[in-house]
Amino acid sequence: EWTMESFISKEISRIREICGDKGRVLGAVSGGVDSTVAAKLMHEAIGDRFQAVLVDNGVLRMNEAAQVYKTLKQDLGVNLKVIDAAELFLGKLAGVTDPEKKRKIIGNTFIEVFEAEAARLESEAEKELEEGKTEKGKFEWLLQGTLYPDVIESISFKGPSATIKTHHNVGGLLADMKLKLIEPLRELFKDEVRALGRLLEIPAHLVNRQPFPGPGLAIRILGEVTKSQVQIVQHADSIYMEEITNAGLYDKISQAYAALLPVKAVGVQGDKRTYEQIIALRAVTTTDFMTADWFDFPHDVLKRISSRITNEVRGVNRVMLDVSSKPPATIEME
Ligand code: XMP
Repeated sequence: EWTMESFISKEISRIREICGDKGRVLGAVSGGVDSTVAAKLMHEAIGDRFQAVLVDNGVLRMNEAAQVYKTLKQDLGVNLKVIDAAELFLGKLAGVTDPEKKRKIIGNTFIEVFEAEAARLESEAEKELEEGKTEKGKFEWLLQGTLYPDVIESISFKGPSATIKTHHNVGGLLADMKLKLIEPLRELFKDEVRALGRLLEIPAHLVNRQPFPGPGLAIRILGEVTKSQVQIVQHADSIYMEEITNAGLYDKISQAYAALLPVKAVGVQGDKRTYEQIIALRAVTTTDFMTADWFDFPHDVLKRISSRITNEVRGVNRVMLDVSSKPPATIEME
């Protein structure tokens, strides 16, 4: 009989068998469900021979890198290193407004940063080995949190996912460092990964997390991505998330986010006329993310979100609600 408990113990034995009693595994984590569950599973199987890396690309949610560090390293004990590459990413994004260009830049920069860190970790490991300081061995494996639907998709067609998954393309690492791929979630669907996460005692707020795109807030800041635009959208988004959570709506919505529109509108504050930006609120329900309906908010919740954002977020004087379904709109605005 197949149960999730038996899956865990079987998968841990399988990982131990594959990895043997020497050799390290490298894996990028994002703070999302899949990479967190995969990382925790690796940690259970081989402890500190698993090395997780989080790349802070400067377009994560407010305090996200610190929160991921706290959950993964302090609470779950995963051997995690955070690379702060925010300045590098924001520098490369300067002046870029085209959505697909933003995606490419973020994808390529991610690979660049991750590969550089992998090379650094590898030479560090080799030095430790030469000096007889470690029993952990060399880096031999690369962890990927691939799920069953990703496996099917990549076998059956190279559709939009080819673009969507560009930031996951770590083929160079596999070739240059001769790393072999390890994919402990490749037989699971998303709801099974969440169930697995619960059994592995990963905090509920993480297990139930709504999806967050690889290019992060860069595709929720329409137009040019600058540090000040990032700060505005981070602040608006944190208020939005806090209010939908407090209203008990977080788990009823498949995906919600605040976007910053690249236009200005007139407003008034005290006796002064303002000319500032607009936040768009998006919230959708969906089962497969291929089609989606906009979420019907209770009015009092909308009122609270709107009044908090316009009062608390500097540089914003209007809040608008996106009432478009997919199709013809997409879930993201870029
Ligand atoms: P759309 O906007 O195409 O989004 O309706 C469907 C789902 O895919 C996510 N998405 C992305 N995820 N990199 C990602 O990792 C991307 O470039 C990307 N674009 C969209 C989106 O958040 C939604 O969950």
